[in-house]
Amino acid sequence: MAYALITGGSKGIGKAIAESLAQRKYNILLVARSENLLKENAAVLEKKFGVKTDILVADVSTDDAAKKISDWCVSKNYDVSILVNNAGYGLGGAFSKLSLEEQLNMMHLNMQSLVQLTYMMIPVLKKTQGKSYILNVASTAAHQAVPFLGVYSATKAFVLSFSRAIHHELKDENISVTCLCPGPTDTNFMTRAGMNSFKNAVKQSERFNMTPEAVAEIAVKALFKGTPEIIPGGSNKAGAFFSRTLPKKLVENTLVGIYKP
Ligand SMILES: NC(=O)c1ccc[n+]([C@@H]2O[C@H](COP(=O)([O-])OP(=O)(O)OC[C@H]3O[C@@H](n4cnc5c(N)ncnc54)[C@H](OP(=O)(O)O)[C@@H]3O)[C@@H](O)[C@H]2O)c1
Repeated sequence: MAYALITGGSKGIGKAIAESLAQRKYNILLVARSENLLKENAAVLEKKFGVKTDILVADVSTDDAAKKISDWCVSKNYDVSILVNNAGYGLGGAFSKLSLEEQLNMMHLNMQSLVQLTYMMIPVLKKTQGKSYILNVASTAAHQAVPFLGVYSATKAFVLSFSRAIHHELKDENISVTCLCPGPTDTNFMTRAGMNSFKNAVKQSERFNMTPEAVAEIAVKALFKGTPEIIPGGSNKAGAFFSRTLPKKLVENTLVGIYKP
């Protein structure tokens, strides 16, 4: 069976996507920084689903990470037919108050590394027999500007636009591209984003949170269907509809009410 390569496979949505693909008998390659979690997840997948696994401990936000990951796949001769660009994080707060360095690191991880790894993995994906797949993880934050998550929402707008464009371009290469736009999901995201003290945002996410497992299952089904963009959950779909149809000022003012610390 072919391999699926998942960045950010140590926890949250990436871990759940790995499980959902292992259940479908894909061998699994996990990349993230937390070695112990990667080892634990890989062992569980092997035992539970009888698939092969390997892990690569890497900081995907660095300049040479994408090359390191694609070289690893090539040197080990892994037949990778699915690439999941999931590693990413957000930063909540006012743009001018957050660290510039950290915001640039987030831009590197969420956008540049995703583009680099996609580019470098295309020749590997093309080698597999039959169709191959790319799943890029954006967010419902991609659908409008989100004040106090300004740089994060812009990175995800980039991911969505890029993914939708290459969905068309890569059809000729027999590679299907899907962009996942999750809304609030019960992971480490809010903690990493420094948003646990943002009362309204916490309330909002507690109200609408989906489990990472539910998000992953919907994403994997959409991936195999060849859907260009998938928004899991009714409330997230409704939110995206309102963002598209209501005046931008109204949408942005509502989001100020939710995300202002
Ligand atoms: N949860 C939500 O509400 C939500 C909503 C919309 C979109 N998303 C998106 O979903 C994706 C997954 O996030 P999550 O919610 O599952 O959050 P999470 O639980 O914090 O998981 C993030 C994953 O990304 C990895 N990661 C972070 N920085 C990394 C780096 N520099 N190098 C390598 N791996 C790195 C983490 O692994 P290590 O820490 O081990 O490196 C972890 O596996 C992200 O792209 C996020 O923007 C999440």
